Amino acid sequence: MTAQHELRFDLTPGGTLGGCLTVPGDKSISHRAVMLSAIADGASEISGFLEGADSLATLRAFRQLGVEIEGPEQGRVRVHGVGLHGLQPAAAPLEMGNSGTSMRLLTGLLSGQSFATELVGDASLSKRPMGRVVEPLSTMGARITASAQGTAPLLIQPAGEGLRGIEYALPVASAQVKSSLLLAGLYAQGETCVIEPVPTRDHTERMLQAFGCQVQQQGTRRCLSGGQRLSGAPIAVPGDISSAAFFLVGASIATGSDLTLTGVGINPTRTGVISILQAMGANIELLNPRDQGGEPVADLRVRAAELTGIRIPLDQVPLAIDEFPALFIAAACAQGETLLQGAEELRVKESDRIQTMADGLQALGIEAEPLPDGLRIQGGVLQGGSVDSHGDHRVAMSFAIAALRAREAIEVRNCDNVNTSFPHFATLAAAAGLGIVERYD
Ligand code: S3P
Repeated sequence: MTAQHELRFDLTPGGTLGGCLTVPGDKSISHRAVMLSAIADGASEISGFLEGADSLATLRAFRQLGVEIEGPEQGRVRVHGVGLHGLQPAAAPLEMGNSGTSMRLLTGLLSGQSFATELVGDASLSKRPMGRVVEPLSTMGARITASAQGTAPLLIQPAGEGLRGIEYALPVASAQVKSSLLLAGLYAQGETCVIEPVPTRDHTERMLQAFGCQVQQQGTRRCLSGGQRLSGAPIAVPGDISSAAFFLVGASIATGSDLTLTGVGINPTRTGVISILQAMGANIELLNPRDQGGEPVADLRVRAAELTGIRIPLDQVPLAIDEFPALFIAAACAQGETLLQGAEELRVKESDRIQTMADGLQALGIEAEPLPDGLRIQGGVLQGGSVDSHGDHRVAMSFAIAALRAREAIEVRNCDNVNTSFPHFATLAAAAGLGIVERYD
């Protein structure tokens, strides 16, 4: 057996972030771009595609399902859509790696096919709850087998009688569940309606419309009629605000920083991180706002500021759901206490982000009290130390930027999965001013 080398970040304490940088393409939009292009009629040209392991897992899956895809080459992908009913059976199980979005959205889309598919994932993904998509899809008539714990691997067999539309009130706020049902709804008889408890990211709805599909939207209710065909369209993927978040926090906490992030997606269902940081006193300006293929984008200028701890408003939680690891670092550097509640979903992300972040913050000398549904953090002085990211990309990048305000060096272990969402993070962060070196142990 060959020795496994694990990526570690070694970080020098202190530093300032400056200049202008472009973060990679949005992960959520990259997944959806490949999925919708694949089942559209005609070819679609995607630019700004995220060449991270997660979105590449989606791309590879559609190749296995018989779709011809050129690229990616510097973020350019050309997908030759096969139409709503043109997918072919895959010769082997589809490997989703670490990607919850690939697995949950594909489960919906593949429920409507006339052939069986098996979806598998890595150790982390194989622990994450899939019942949240399997149950409503089964009500639509889908035939899906999960493990006894409701986890992957998932075997999706053709729905005997075909899928039928349902009306479903989501018990948890989840864009993945919403999207999975809407994708299944394309293959269902009649209308499929999903009602969210609170708004979540709406990239699926926006892109379906950009592909000519009608989605009725009323408050948090989304409905579509089955059988609608999609027409291939160009998609320019904006920069990922979830990747920008590390720099928004880093430049806020590092004295003297002045950094501009160009072309970042500012879809209002994703901008919780900006609102929360601004409420803490951050200096973030939205410059040059524009529309990019149905998604709003802007350049974000962020300068260092004194932050103050806050009680995070409940309505911001789903709008910042992936940015809490980074926001917890901001809280550690803020004056006073920050309290997050209503975020139990963080326990079932790529890691249990309440526990992994509390453990890491404590290892660095910060008072952090995990709660069942959140975290209480007392702002203080970050010391140095060694932190385990538990293979969670966003935890790893958050502790990397924490070094900007640490007294001593920080080592972050288990960083290989940074590549799922942010390839070349270390290179880009180093160019902006972070003292980061990658090592393989
Ligand atoms: C995503 C939705 C969110 C988010 C994930 C990406 C998506 O998950 O955490 O990183 O692309 O739809 P949930 O739907 O489980 O909240």
